[in-house]
Amino acid sequence: MTNSFRFRLTLWWVGALAVLLVLFSLGVYSMLAGSARERFDATLRAAGEVTALSVNHEIEEHHGRTEGEASIGLVLQTMHRVSFPRQSIVVFEGMRQVAAKPGIEGLDTVTPGLAVGFHGNGAYRIAVFETAVPALRSKYTIVVSQSVRTLEEELAGFRRVLYWCVPMGILFASIGGYFLARRNLAPIVAMTDEVNRITSQNLHQRLAVANSKDELGRLAGTFNELLERLNASFDDQRRFMADASHELRTPLSVALTAAQVNLDGGPRTTAEYQEALRIVTEQLRRLKRIVQEMFLLAQADTGGFVPVVSSFYLDELIQEAVRAARIIGDPLGVRVVVEGLEEAPISGDEGLIRQMLLALLDNAIRHTPAGGRVTVGLVREEGTWRVEVADTGTGIPEEDQPYIFDRFYRANKARTRAAGGAGLGLSIARWIATLHKGTLLLTASSGEGTVFTVRLPGVGGEEATPR
Ligand SMILES: Nc1ncnc2c1ncn2[C@@H]1O[C@H](COP(=O)(O)OP(=O)(O)O)[C@@H](O)[C@H]1O
Ligand SMILES: [Mg+2]
Repeated sequence: MTNSFRFRLTLWWVGALAVLLVLFSLGVYSMLAGSARERFDATLRAAGEVTALSVNHEIEEHHGRTEGEASIGLVLQTMHRVSFPRQSIVVFEGMRQVAAKPGIEGLDTVTPGLAVGFHGNGAYRIAVFETAVPALRSKYTIVVSQSVRTLEEELAGFRRVLYWCVPMGILFASIGGYFLARRNLAPIVAMTDEVNRITSQNLHQRLAVANSKDELGRLAGTFNELLERLNASFDDQRRFMADASHELRTPLSVALTAAQVNLDGGPRTTAEYQEALRIVTEQLRRLKRIVQEMFLLAQADTGGFVPVVSSFYLDELIQEAVRAARIIGDPLGVRVVVEGLEEAPISGDEGLIRQMLLALLDNAIRHTPAGGRVTVGLVREEGTWRVEVADTGTGIPEEDQPYIFDRFYRANKARTRAAGGAGLGLSIARWIATLHKGTLLLTASSGEGTVFTVRLPGVGGEEATPR
């Protein structure tokens, strides 16, 4: 439960609300209690002031202590009836009680000795005033007190309301918040279920997008894009598997047949066995090459290939590749020539670049009829080396051109199967160029021939070619 986002969301929201409510209640309560107590004291002060005025007035009016003090008693009685029914008022001269307001509970709490000011003893609030009586050359002490019971009861009532309302508010907010969170998170739960139903078998399924503009819609959209990519790469994998097994099957069948035919029936001549072994070896060599190429591509895909980088001269490597190509070209009547080589220092994986050059030369020779020519050129171009492999061959049909760099793709399948590879040569060659921050492009192809162009950054490496 504590792991549920809904629960934590509710908890946070309720926590925040609780803190807010408690602070707010404390604030309101202390303001209210403060002002109630102030009003309470103000009434006591008013009673004291009125009494002080009356004391002086009555003494002066009656020209004598006895009559004056009696009259003060009458005034206090009137005050009791008219404006201060709940307050006790006692007037002292020293410790002698001069007059008192009648019929009031708690008069006994009134203490003559208290200092001027406000005092509280828990049950009562007592205010002490002094007033000079010039006519008698004396000083009277006025003590006003009132029970705080009503005030405290009122405040306690208010506190009770808060004690109930705050927890109830938090409780209702929690319940409401929980259901609200549940409602708001329901689409996520639904989406989780939807995603759970997607497996490699139904990768083409997509999540429903209610509103593509809100956060959930964008999440679903992102998910769908991910599914799109996954689906595409799954399709690639499936196609690769199908193509690979297809490519491996042919040489295997050929080798198997050659071996089987010679084992069945009677004994054969040495020449017949030699021929069979020649066929088997040739097919095994072809299988070995296909498996090597597939392995290289697999490494390329997982990023697991670590190039062996060294510095060397590209022109020397081209010379070497051309010598190797002539071994295939000469018997086929295809001349391989080199044009305008200059000294070309470069850094990269020599083995890979050799493989790329051989793949291009091999293609060029195999698609050029006898009497044709394959030309290799190398020129410097804005900090990069441009290698061109041109032939005078049959060209690549226009409809095949976009696909020749795809894995296992072969134009004119039937015709080139025996001679060419498994259709991996160009995809590997392009990967090699890209690995070296270069490019490999088909720059021209027609009935007169084909040109492939490789661009590789020169030494320094920073000046990678523009794509
Ligand atoms: N120089 C070229 N002339 C004509 N066609 C070519 C040439 N180079 C490549 N191709 C076409 O591109 C296809 C893919 O080449 P590649 O990937 O090397 O595969 P493979 O050589 O195994 O057939 C070839 O089958 C061929 O049809
Ligand atoms: Mg090839």
